This record gives sequence, C-alpha cells and structure tokens, in this order.
Amino acid sequence: MATAARWLLPQSQHKPLMLTLLLLVFVSQSLRCYSAGYSEQERDRVAFLPGQPRSPQVSRFSGHVTVNEKNGRALFYWFFEAQEQPAQKPLLLWLNGGPGCSSVGYGAASELGPLRVSRFAAGLEFNKFAWNKEANLLFLESPVGVGFSYTNTSSDLTSLSDDFVAQDAYNFLVNWFKRFPQYKDREFYISGESYAGHYVPQLADLVYERNKDRKANTYINFKGFFFFFFFELNFKGFIVGNPITDDYYDSKGLAEYAWSHAVVSDELYDQIKKVCDFRASNWTDDCDKAMSTIFRQYHEIDIYNIYAPKCNLAQTSVSSSADEALKYSDHEPFRRRIRMFSGYDECYSSYAQKYFNKADVQIALHANLNGMHPGKWQVCSDSILRSYNFSVVSVLPIYAKLIKAGLRVWLYSGDADGRVPVIGSRYCVEALALPIKTQWQPWYLNQQVAGRFVEYHGMTMVTIRGAGHLVPLNKPAEGLTLIDTFLLGKQLPTHR
Ligand SMILES: *[C@@H]1O[C@H](CO)[C@@H](O)[C@H](O)[C@H]1NC(C)=O
Ligand SMILES: *[C@@H]1O[C@H](CO)[C@@H](O)[C@H](O)[C@H]1NC(C)=O
Ligand SMILES: *[C@@H]1O[C@H](CO)[C@@H](O)[C@H](O)[C@H]1NC(C)=O
Repeated sequence: MATAARWLLPQSQHKPLMLTLLLLVFVSQSLRCYSAGYSEQERDRVAFLPGQPRSPQVSRFSGHVTVNEKNGRALFYWFFEAQEQPAQKPLLLWLNGGPGCSSVGYGAASELGPLRVSRFAAGLEFNKFAWNKEANLLFLESPVGVGFSYTNTSSDLTSLSDDFVAQDAYNFLVNWFKRFPQYKDREFYISGESYAGHYVPQLADLVYERNKDRKANTYINFKGFFFFFFFELNFKGFIVGNPITDDYYDSKGLAEYAWSHAVVSDELYDQIKKVCDFRASNWTDDCDKAMSTIFRQYHEIDIYNIYAPKCNLAQTSVSSSADEALKYSDHEPFRRRIRMFSGYDECYSSYAQKYFNKADVQIALHANLNGMHPGKWQVCSDSILRSYNFSVVSVLPIYAKLIKAGLRVWLYSGDADGRVPVIGSRYCVEALALPIKTQWQPWYLNQQVAGRFVEYHGMTMVTIRGAGHLVPLNKPAEGLTLIDTFLLGKQLPTHR
C-alpha cells in the first residue's frame, strides 16, 4: 500500500520512490543471483560414485568453475561438506603442489579426504580421520593442465608461474562463492603441502589485498548494473605442511638432513659445504654434481619418507612420477632437479590414477562431460613441472607481511621427509625472527609424543614425529588433531 500511495505524490517527492525501485531491483537481482547459485550448486551435487561405501553418508559436490572467459580456463573442484553441522564449521581449501600434482588424486583421494581410493582402485573407502570432520573441505585442481582442470588456449600451459596460479585460484574462489553463497561469510582458511608452500601464502596475500580493496574489486567482478556481490571473505589464515618456502634455507636443509640422517658420507657433505653457495641463483657444476649424489643415495629409498619401505609397484606397472622427474632432470640444470613433484607414493597414486580414469567415475564427478578433457587424467603432470616458471625464490616476505596483518599462520613438518626436511623449515621460521611465546616442547596423542611445537607471537611451527612428506597419509590421527587445533585456534595437547 505504501508503494501505491507514493505514486500519487507530487513530482518533487519522486526521489524516495526511485530509491525504493532501485532497491527492489537490487534485491530481486540479488535473489536471482542467489537462486542461480543454488541451482548451479545442485547441478554439481554428486549422487553416487562407483564403488563408494553405503555408509556413512558423505555430502559432496564437484565440477568446473570458469576462471578466465577470454582464454577459456576452468578449474575443477571436489567439495565435501563437514560431516556434522556444516553450517557451523569453517571452510578449508586444500592445495597440493608439484607443480603439476592433483589435489583430487593426492589430497582428497590419498590423504585427508573422506573418500579415499582403495587398493587396486576397486572403489572408495571411508577415511575416519578425514579433515571434513571439523571443516567444509574444498579440493582444487590447480593450475590449468592439472587433473581435470583445463584451458582452451594451449599457450597458457607454458605461461604458468606462481603469479598466474594465484590469480586463477583467486578467480576460482570468487566464482565458487557465487555458486555456493552460503559459504561466503564463513571463516575461511587455506592449506596445502610441498610446492603449495608457494601457492598458499601467495593466494592468501591476494585474498588479503583484494579484501582491503573490495569496492574496486566488486566493480571488476560484476558486469551487471548493481554491486550486489560484495566479495570480501572472512579470511582467517593459512597452514602449510612440508612447504617449499625459501630456496636457500630449503636447499641447505636438504643437504644437512641427508648428512645428519646418515644418508650420505662426511666427505660428500664436506664437499657440498665447500662448493655450494645456495644463495646463488645458478649452482656451479661442482655443486650440481655433489647434490646429484645426494639424490642418487635417496633413489633406493623413499626420499619423502626415509624410514618407510619403498613401494616397488612402479617398476612393473605404472611409471613413478617422482622417478620420472629425476630421470629427465638429469639432462637439465640442477635448478630444475630440486623441483620434484610433491606427490610420490606410486602405490597410492597409481590407484587414484586408475580410478579417476574410469569413464563412469568421470561422469559421476561431472568431470569430462563433452569429452572436453584432452588427455588421460594424471595424478601429476610432467609437462607442467617442466615448463613451470620458477621465478619466486622465497615466500618469507609474504609470511612477514601476513603475520603482521594478524592472520593465523601455521607451518607443520613431518620429520622423516628428506625432500622438504624439517631442518630447512626451521631455518625458514627462525629467519622471520619472531618473538617466542612458548618454547619448543613435545605435544601428545594417545599417551605418546606426537611431535614438537613452538609458538611465536604471530605463528606456530609443529613437527609430526615419524611422518614423511604426506603427513595426513603417514600419521592420520596426528594430522586430524593438528588441523582441528589449528582451526579452533588452540594449543596442541602439552600433556600425556
Ligand atoms: C572450452 O571450449 C569448449 C568447446 O568450445 C566449450 O564448450 C567450453 O565452454 C570452453 N571452456 C571455457 C571455460 O570457456
Ligand atoms: C643461469 O643459467 C641459465 C641456464 O643455464 C643461463 O641462461 C643464465 O645465464 C645463468 N645465469 C647466471 C647469472 O649465470
Ligand atoms: C618468469 O617470470 C618472471 C617474473 O614474472 C618473468 O620476468 C620472466 O620473464 C618469466 N620467464 C619466462 C621464461 O617466461
């Protein structure tokens, strides 16, 4: 009635009327956007996956999200709602590294997802230590060229760099939140391991910057008439595991770890100390040779988990991504050789590779609808690793900045990893020179020392005793305690 009455008002009072009309259009547009989001969301719901267990119920979605319309780039995600009370739980994004490895194949299907591929790819098994116990869990295959993520412009595949990856991942978030608007105001955290040690802080930085700048951003992201999509995330922090962080400290740590864990001789270690300057952007031939000797010593054991038995499946059936990386990199400058895949366990990844190449699985996941995905699904892509532009040598300046901004920042390290060893990560954290809040001390799970941790003002570093590079795979219970504690912003258990 109020609206009708306004029509009768004299000319001079039309202003509030116009505003009301604008508001109405605004609201209806917003509602349309919301309902469009929800119906797209329903289209992504995964009803049933071949070989999945009947119980418990796991609510999940998957599909592609366009990140660049001009070049036709789309990233693939797999999303699991929290097992209980998803509306009350935070949202956690998980990224694997490589560069070139799939967060679906590793993170979701082999490490911390609720449905992991079972032995011989017969089906899926429920993982009782899944991280979606405490969070809504989003796995992203990034960048384009990884897994089911693709581009219609092939030159994109040879232009990949940290910056490129972060921009696309950010655009993914903007568009994913349009599809899942109920998560937009949720507490949001970013996590990942290995080379995602680069991706995670850089994406965090981008989210932080764009949040500050949200007006301009809304304008950029919305092509219609009204600014109804205020894209400001409730971003709280990040956590990274066995992360590649700083080339100097990580390389120094790799050499020291190999020596201190009796992998290489005193002579070789002395030689490395003499001929290697890890601060140099190019290593000398002598350094290159000495470091190759370290990798050769690791070749017969599992560099990613030095006390574990080596999986020998690869020799006969599938080729091991990590071994492949070593093989071809023998012909390339060592600067490349240091960039090995984050994923490694041929036994696990070969099952994932088999499972995600099944036609019925791809259809159920909305992964390959029009036969659009060119090659076979690979758990890690050699060509991306090879062509990737490694121009960022350290992400420590980003840590310093985001810690100062008050974000929650944790770094954890499986202490049996020879590839991105705990020693190098300690150097990295120490280089930040943060004041100590609580001293280095053990933390406990099931009456045992699960690892150690140290709290600084602004960041926490945690070790997981006896875990390798893939902590959630090697030490699932410890991994779950770790992520719960991080998400709740608490302290790890300091008593038995
Ligand atoms: C890529 O090209 C295919 C075939 O033309 C098209 O169906 C698809 O929508 C394009 N992808 C993107 C993200 O634009
Ligand atoms: C480093 O190595 C690359 C490739 O081998 C070469 O092109 C470049 O000039 C070298 N840079 C320096 C500073 O020596
Ligand atoms: C790699 O990235 C850096 C920084 O963005 C850029 O200056 C350089 O030209 C790139 N190199 C190649 C080979 O594309």
